[in-house]
Amino acid sequence: MYPTRPQSALRTAVVWEVVSEALSRRAAELGQPVLDVLDTGGGTGNFAVPVARLGHRVTVVDPSPDALFALERRAAEAGVTELVRAVQGDTQTLPEVITAGSVDAVLCHGVLEVVDDPAEALGNLAGTLRKGGLISLLAANRTGAVLARALAGHFTEAQALLESADGRWGTADPMPRRFTGEELGALAEAAGLRVESVHGVRVFADLVPGVLVDTEPGAAEALLRLEQAAAEQPAFHAVATQLHLLAALV
Ligand SMILES: C[S@@+](CC[C@H](N)C(=O)[O-])C[C@H]1O[C@@H](n2cnc3c(N)ncnc32)[C@H](O)[C@@H]1O
Repeated sequence: MYPTRPQSALRTAVVWEVVSEALSRRAAELGQPVLDVLDTGGGTGNFAVPVARLGHRVTVVDPSPDALFALERRAAEAGVTELVRAVQGDTQTLPEVITAGSVDAVLCHGVLEVVDDPAEALGNLAGTLRKGGLISLLAANRTGAVLARALAGHFTEAQALLESADGRWGTADPMPRRFTGEELGALAEAAGLRVESVHGVRVFADLVPGVLVDTEPGAAEALLRLEQAAAEQPAFHAVATQLHLLAALV
């Protein structure tokens, strides 16, 4: 399984499992082992490099030159330079840098929260996909953040978050936007995508005291197993830190 460090695994394991399985399913459906994958806002390659290590061709489009530089170094270290292409751009300029209908799978992780217009961004991402192509969408969950603020004793902020249009707790909130599961589903549908699965990511990990996870032998591994078991259960989606949607272009 990737990745192996406990804290990093807690952040990415659920999504990695869904994405890696979806890619191998799609490759089998198409009868081609190598897929064209676009990682938009892929940053330093947290997912792009492991996806390239599966043998797929990955294009990372990100506005940050520093992130793209780090990505290239990371790809070289992993021996997948040939499979990773770094392109400076963003979701708005996507149609200028990626040919329409040329991609088998799109990753969009932690990006919809920061773009100016999420509907336009998702429309541009869907436009890069071949018919039946997949999109992996990971975004901050508004209701999970309400619970987290309340448990931290910030009750006024929790209420502001609950009632605000953009899912923020105030002007000092570093997150530009959060979504409910319904909002993400509606955005996906409006972009011509059919939602295939929804997972809650970090249902417990951000709520339990770090010291419990770091000092108790075997606790990190047990928490990871619990996260994986709870991720698919709809009852836990509302309290997760992030929501992950897997969708396909109809
Ligand atoms: C929170 S990071 C997520 C990085 C990576 N996807 C991951 O999951 O580790 C957000 C990334 O989105 C990029 N970004 C910011 N605005 C963007 C835009 N309009 N279009 C595409 N990427 C953008 C940032 O440069 C950054 O690399």
